[in-house]
Order: sequence, then structure tokens, then C-alpha cells
Amino acid sequence: PMKLLIDTDPGVDDAMAILFAARHPGIELVGLTSVFGNVTVAQATRNALALVERAGLSCPVAEGAGAPLVLPPFEPSAHVHGPEGFGAMPAPRPAGRALDEDAADFMIRMARDHAGELVLCPVGPITNVAEAIQRDPEFARNVKQIVFMGGALDVRGNVTPYAEANTWHDPHALDLVLGSGADVLMVGLDVTLQVLLEAGDFDRLAALCPGDGGWLRDMAGFYLDFYRSIGLTGCGLHDPMAVIACLRPDLFTIEYTPLEVVCDGDEIGRTRRSARPDRVAVGVCTDCDAAAVEALFYAPFDEA
Ligand code: BDR
Ligand code: CA
Repeated sequence: PMKLLIDTDPGVDDAMAILFAARHPGIELVGLTSVFGNVTVAQATRNALALVERAGLSCPVAEGAGAPLVLPPFEPSAHVHGPEGFGAMPAPRPAGRALDEDAADFMIRMARDHAGELVLCPVGPITNVAEAIQRDPEFARNVKQIVFMGGALDVRGNVTPYAEANTWHDPHALDLVLGSGADVLMVGLDVTLQVLLEAGDFDRLAALCPGDGGWLRDMAGFYLDFYRSIGLTGCGLHDPMAVIACLRPDLFTIEYTPLEVVCDGDEIGRTRRSARPDRVAVGVCTDCDAAAVEALFYAPFDEA
């Protein structure tokens, strides 16, 4: 199975991505790392531990950044993911605790131990990955691939007309990752809003898998209310789609282009094609087989 490390700010769709990955036979989760974003980093760490315990995994959790690289600290997105990240539900209190090592050091160690094999899947602000690149000049070479959820290339942002939330939270970090020379694949709003899960889809998930599926359905109500408030009938399959792109890149149309992130002004957080001489091409998912992606998401939850 693929050795995968998910860097996350759980978050409803983060929880969906982590439970999907935990249940998928093609994935071996080597650990989770936490980051500020949908919730504070302390809450993200607790939620990541709770997800590991819920999934019956034994992989470690390492706590990461509490604020962006350069920008001042942010307020968490409680209006989207709820006060504790799991919608209106109180987050479970985990029994375990995080490593003493921080997220960037843990990533560096995992990338060395599994050199050429480790796939990194950041689904929150990409601050921890930027810190790992800053600390270890070998890091970008040691990881097999960085498949991140974030950005919006040819579509509108979801925080501003230009910026997607993860990128908006730490534009400097993503710009650093894009210039690192690592093998990078962007899974942004161009594709993640092509698969919208509606209330009925969560009912189906709960019917397939009353335990985890039912729990996700219960936390999704609040998240779906937010999407309805912005005129969408369902929620984007954001973070799960990054994990799916790790497994099945063939379900996506990938453009290879140098990319940069706007780091100031009105368009801060915008991802765009770049002509900068320090840039090499990275992959960007521009289109996908939405029906196949959605079917793949349900598959590990089907207990029949
Ligand atoms: C991204 O922002 C967060 O709210 C979600 O968890 C996802 O990672 C979508 O823009
Ligand atoms: Ca997320």
C-alpha cells in the first residue's frame, strides 16, 4: 500500500478524507500532522487524535503550526466547520496525546525513513510543509509527491473572488512549496467543487456504513447549512479528493505549468500560472471524472 501522511485541520471534509484513507486498503497512513485553519491547532491536534482512535489506527499525530509563516494569526472558520470542527457536534475527547516532535520534524523524519516512497497530502494551510522544506534541504527530494488540497486556477475562490481558503490562510507557505522543486500536484476548487455531496448522499453513506458513515452524516448537517447559505445544494468533496488524487491520478485531467501565489494586495491567496525564472512545472488538476471520483469515495464505506 501507499505510505501516506495527511497534514490536516479537521474540519468536516478533513474527517471524511481521513476516515476514507483509514478504510482504503491501498493506503497505509504513517501519521497525521495538525495545523491551524478550520480550528485552532490545539483543537486540530485533538481532532486528529480522535480520528485516529475512531478509525482504530495506531499511527502517530504530530502537532504543527498555530499561525501562518508570515501573515498574522487568523480566527478559525467556525462558521463553516462548527466551533470544534465537527459541525454542531462536540468533538470527542481523545485518550492519546501527540508526539513531542513537531509536525515539520516528524514529516522530515518520515520522508527520510521512507525516502522516495512517502506521499504527503496536505489538506489545510500548507505551513508545516513549508517549514519542513526550510529546515531540511533534502526534504523536497525525499518525498515522493506532495498532493495538496488548495488553490483555484481557472475558477473563483471560496474566501475571496481569487483565493481558496487553505491558500488564503498561508499564501507564503504555498508559494514556497511551489518553488521547492518537489513533485507537486494541486487539487483545488477547479475539481473539488465538481463533486457536491447533498444531504441524501450522506444518508446513503450512513446506510452503507452506520458507524463512520452515520457519524459523518451527523457532523455534515452544519457544513451543508453553510453551503446552502452560499447557494450550493451540497458540499464540495475537497479534502477527500486530494486523497483520491494520490490513489487515482488517472481520474483527473492534469495540466503541467509553473505556478505562483499572490502574496499581497487585493488578490492575495490567488494561485496563477507563473513566468518566474525560479519556477518549474507542477501538476494542477483542471478537470475530473466526477462520477468515478464520487463512486470511489463511497467504496471503502460499503460494508455490504
Ligand atoms: C478547504 O478549506 C477548508 O475549509 C476545507 O477543510 C478544505 O481543506 C476548502 O477550501
Ligand atoms: Ca481541510
